[in-house]
Amino acid sequence: MDNVVEIRDLHKVYRDGFDVHALRGVDLDVARGEFMTIAGPSGSGKTTLLNLLGGLDRPTEGRVFIEGQEVTAMSRSELADMRRRRLGFVFQSFNLIPVLTARENVEFALILRGVGAERRRALAQNVLEQVSLDEGMRERRPLDLSGGQQQRVAVARAIVGEPAVVLADEPTANLDTENALALLDLMERLNEERQATFIFSTHDPRVMERARRRVTLRDGEVVSDERVA
Ligand SMILES: Nc1ncnc2c1ncn2[C@@H]1O[C@H](COP(=O)(O)OP(=O)(O)OP(=O)(O)O)[C@@H](O)[C@H]1O
Ligand SMILES: [Mg+2]
Repeated sequence: MDNVVEIRDLHKVYRDGFDVHALRGVDLDVARGEFMTIAGPSGSGKTTLLNLLGGLDRPTEGRVFIEGQEVTAMSRSELADMRRRRLGFVFQSFNLIPVLTARENVEFALILRGVGAERRRALAQNVLEQVSLDEGMRERRPLDLSGGQQQRVAVARAIVGEPAVVLADEPTANLDTENALALLDLMERLNEERQATFIFSTHDPRVMERARRRVTLRDGEVVSDERVA
């Protein structure tokens, strides 16, 4: 069995003033190439789960494995290395670097992976082509791009290093229907062509409809896990 993600009895308690038990014993296996959503009401723990999966925060209890490596046992520098090599993130607010152009934002992900200049340029152009960002747009800075274009740059940056897993927190939240559907088409194509595993949190019925597996959280617990034929 080829699981890229294994989550075992994961708990997260935020303690500021009073305790918030954000995750209460989550168990989940995700196989390579899955295209799945994490749904659930506001406050159910979706962002918390993605942050723990990506090693951006530590659980109170439980274990997370990515490609067999225990994320929850890693030091800070091992975590940073694991994120660079195995994961791609798409944040709701894009998190592009404002002083860099679209192309430079994508190349930056490769600088962190130690890829040389010439190959970096070629890979960035290739992936920007895949996300259909016109050449004229690639030398613009994020603020001179529309929300949908910025979102595509963020996806390009997340996938350029060919990560095993792409984690996306409400990737279509700021997009109109046309751009949301285009983004889903793109992610589906990458999922099929590269066997990249996609895990998105979402409230968006347009996204849920396209998922092949739908996990639902409520009050920090998995309450349903359905596969779509
Ligand atoms: N840094 C934090 N400190 C304290 N409590 C937090 C923190 N982050 C999240 N929480 C609490 O943990 C619970 C789960 O939050 P989380 O952000 O994971 O939910 P979510 O499902 O992503 O919600 P939304 O759909 O609104 O994005 C909520 O009760 C939230 O208030
Ligand atoms: Mg959230």
